[in-house]
Amino acid sequence: MRARLHITGTLAPVDERLFSSFIEHMGRAVYTGIYEPGHPSADAAGFRGDVAELIRPLGLSHIRYPGGNFLSGYHWQDGIGPKERRPVRPELAWFALEPNQVGTDEFLQWCERMEIRPMLGVNLGTGTPRDAVELLEYVNGDLPSYWAQKRRENGREAPYGVKLWCLGNEMDGPWQICAKTAQEYARIACETAKMMKWLDPSIELVACGSSYRAMPGFGSWEKTVLEHCYPYIDYISLHQYYTNHEGDVPSFLARPLEMEDSIREIAALCDEAKAAQGGSRDIHLSFDEWNVWYHYEQEGKEPPRWTVARPIHEEAYDDVDPLVTGAMMNALLRHADRVKIACLAQLVNVIAPIMTQPGGPARVQSIYYPFLLASRYGRGAALITEAEVPCYDCAVRSAVPYLDCAAVEGGDGSLNFFLVNRAEEAMELNLELPRAFAAGEHRILRGLSLVSASCALRDGSAQALLPPRSWSMLRLTVRPAPGEIYN
Ligand code: AHR
Repeated sequence: MRARLHITGTLAPVDERLFSSFIEHMGRAVYTGIYEPGHPSADAAGFRGDVAELIRPLGLSHIRYPGGNFLSGYHWQDGIGPKERRPVRPELAWFALEPNQVGTDEFLQWCERMEIRPMLGVNLGTGTPRDAVELLEYVNGDLPSYWAQKRRENGREAPYGVKLWCLGNEMDGPWQICAKTAQEYARIACETAKMMKWLDPSIELVACGSSYRAMPGFGSWEKTVLEHCYPYIDYISLHQYYTNHEGDVPSFLARPLEMEDSIREIAALCDEAKAAQGGSRDIHLSFDEWNVWYHYEQEGKEPPRWTVARPIHEEAYDDVDPLVTGAMMNALLRHADRVKIACLAQLVNVIAPIMTQPGGPARVQSIYYPFLLASRYGRGAALITEAEVPCYDCAVRSAVPYLDCAAVEGGDGSLNFFLVNRAEEAMELNLELPRAFAAGEHRILRGLSLVSASCALRDGSAQALLPPRSWSMLRLTVRPAPGEIYN
């Protein structure tokens, strides 16, 4: 199969927050994931050094915390102060025991050590607007006020200065603790947002959109939320996980195109709200949960309930999954003008690129690599490309191009193409170049390795062979020696 690709324009700068992830108090994400006092690699605060070493190369901008569904039952005051006095609680989102040994201070200080910024959520399930504002006061307060003083008493003098906050999580979902109707959520989100911005006008707020595209209220939920919250929020969230229970790979590979439909539709609703309210600010999108998630469910495991670090949703990714997550990342890059934040959900042990053994080693999974290289080489200006490539029809969509591509021009003048070949046969790619380049490098994901392949530069174009059903990156640089690619 042959494909021709060329660049037709520049879309927008890529917001570095597109390369963010998510840690929830869920399964073994926190306990025996990032945090395991007594592990041979643990630091003085009990956080695993081996896990940190696998997270660092991802160059994460933000980590969303503490949930997820966990957020809607979380009383943040349980997680501060002397650890021995913190309560152990039954955790209703995931039927586990929450020991509260990691809380706001531990997480925020770990983020500081990791040089990753936090994106914190406030509980709008069992929580009140007052709880939310008090958490903000605890975290960012610099007044001689009660909660800021409590933070100081707990050993942290300087405010943390957290800028990005989520107003609840998936509040439309019947699975959510204290789920809400659109009206109910819109009202509480609006009032919470007002108070939070009065206390700290420097923050940015993300309101909950629908939990996923197939929710019955998709679109109408966002309309209601935007109608009430437009003046007070900065972003609205989208979430999406893809499954392949049917074993229908062509459809699975096509799913990320639906993600783009969602982005376009929700962005249009944001623009409608702006016009209706005569506003001057754009509401942008925070795609703050995205991934592949179905293997664990298919295995039908049900670990005993009410334990600490209950090992749930430990998804084992295969060789097709990184093509889907790679295409999802591409979809985000192709909409860099509207999507400003995106979190690969999650980071460690739970639907995650990084897995740990309690007391043992940590390792990465296949989905680690497309994210890693996009984060490393996908910063700069998102480009618009056009491809001449055959298409296919499948159960979920028609006219699916066999080639999926996102392109970014780096600040160093490089051109970086992230490519998914959806076809069962190899694809000869001919890439028209807008100018001369000194070197081209092609890296293909094979299992857990990035294999080098040839990239020929001639007659103003680059040629590469994309293996059947593969994810790869093509990188053209202005200097002869291409930058080191992670391996
Ligand atoms: O990321 C796992 C869960 O998926 C989150 O807790 C929830 O927000 C979503 O349904």
